[in-house]
Amino acid sequence: MRKSLFFLLSLFFLTLLTSEARVYKGQKEYIRKCKKCHDHGQEIAKSRKKRSWKKMMKSKGELLAKIHLKSRKAKHSWKYFKSSRYKKKSKHLRDFFLEYAKDSGNVPACD
Ligand code: HEC
Repeated sequence: MRKSLFFLLSLFFLTLLTSEARVYKGQKEYIRKCKKCHDHGQEIAKSRKKRSWKKMMKSKGELLAKIHLKSRKAKHSWKYFKSSRYKKKSKHLRDFFLEYAKDSGNVPACD
């Protein structure tokens, strides 16, 4: 009985840690790749609700990539949005946006 409780608790913390790590990775990627054109990531995150971010980031961030590839002003981001790096990191970005989405209830700290 005690053993399984311990097991459940470890599982819980492990899940918590992994999702924290993904949010952190997403934020790092944002600062590296998006900040030169956009302001604070948490401001961008706050501009949409979770549902809208899920849509934006589904299929490896396809829609977000499309918005940029369509825009001449975003030309300097084209290489990134076409890269496999973006496809790999899109789920971290997604977690980051969801964490700070308008309806997430989280108040952003400084970045
Ligand atoms: C080279 C500059 C540039 C980079 C780098 C860039 N963006 Fe953008 N982004 C733009 C421009 C310009 C638009 C406006 C496109 C349009 O609507 O014509 C835009 C639009 C957006 C929008 C839509 C805003 C809205 O609500 O309509 C989001 C969200 C966004 N970018 C997020 C990101 C993220 C996340 C990254 C990094 C992975 C990123 N951008 C990297 C230039 C950039």
